[in-house]
Amino acid sequence: MSRLVADCKVAIVGGAGFAGSHMVDYLINKRDCDVLVLDNLSAGRREFVHPNAKFVHADITGSERELYQHFKDFKAKFVWNYASIPYIPVSFERPLHVFNVNAMGALKVINAAQEAGAQAIGQISSAEIYGDGPDEENPTGKVSEEEKAVPHSSYGAAKLAIDSLCQVRWKEAKTPVIAVRQHNMLGERETHPYVVTTIISQLYHRGSTIELGNNSVRDFMYAGDQSRMATELLEKGQFGEVYGLGSEHGVKIYDLAQMIGGVMGVGPVNILVDPARLRPWEIWNLTANCAKIYSVISSRPEVTLEEALGRTVRYYLENGCRWCWE
Ligand SMILES: NC(=O)c1ccc[n+]([C@@H]2O[C@H](COP(=O)([O-])OP(=O)(O)OC[C@H]3O[C@@H](n4cnc5c(N)ncnc54)[C@H](O)[C@@H]3O)[C@@H](O)[C@H]2O)c1
Repeated sequence: MSRLVADCKVAIVGGAGFAGSHMVDYLINKRDCDVLVLDNLSAGRREFVHPNAKFVHADITGSERELYQHFKDFKAKFVWNYASIPYIPVSFERPLHVFNVNAMGALKVINAAQEAGAQAIGQISSAEIYGDGPDEENPTGKVSEEEKAVPHSSYGAAKLAIDSLCQVRWKEAKTPVIAVRQHNMLGERETHPYVVTTIISQLYHRGSTIELGNNSVRDFMYAGDQSRMATELLEKGQFGEVYGLGSEHGVKIYDLAQMIGGVMGVGPVNILVDPARLRPWEIWNLTANCAKIYSVISSRPEVTLEEALGRTVRYYLENGCRWCWE
């Protein structure tokens, strides 16, 4: 059966959030899809959802039967799960809550989607599962799916659990699910004090001296690129497999701050260390090795980091110079 994601019905769980709303836009604008968004709006916003998408208020920690009914009534051919508690510091304080949403809730979505007849299911995971990935002494290292998974946060542990469940459910129940180990994203409609949003608001409100945590290396890609590449993966990837996705370019956070300062016209940026932003366990380098996903899909990132930063800053300036949680 063709897995072409075009002119068909797709349900996006967590589609009112940052990355999920980019996927909704992509499927409606570029793939002529009919989209149903399910979200509890705990972080996402109703106004982030494309006006042509249908919206249902739903909580993935609730009844699996209700999720099933929504997918069934909509006749979803494909289901994506973007719903999660994605802001890692929350997991230091509320590990049970994070596990309940990111692992247990995600499993309910996957089970319900299969039961309702979805042809393929995409689960968004995270590169944060590689807590012991290449460290400070190996700053050029890139993580592939072969890397040992040793999470350093409850967030990462929950993501690893759902990753493993995707692999296992394919083996034990032929659940047609693919997991994406996503590296950092940026773009319009960010929903949490992630590093890019934090730098932008500090530079705007406080001037060129800002406070950050460690100068670790991360890999950033534009959320719209993620939507396009993940869609091709859903069409062509193998069920029961996990695929890392990033830009394959690592950038030190302090260099990123200088780039954002340049985009905003406030450089050079003076960086102070805020002890409150230091993580209990740092992952010094998370840069993607995309060999596995690139052996399956032909699409590649199109928006450069500079351009993505420009779009993110522009969005901030055009939306009252406040992020949605501020
Ligand atoms: N943003 C990044 O840089 C990044 C990097 C790697 C992985 N990820 C993963 O990508 C996915 C999307 O992240 P995001 O940054 O867009 O986060 P987000 O918070 O903007 O999106 C998550 C959405 O899920 C919804 N949600 C949360 N709990 C829910 C529940 N119990 N029931 C229903 N809906 C619920 C929120 O309201 C929100 O709209 C997450 O799985 C995240 O872990 C994000």
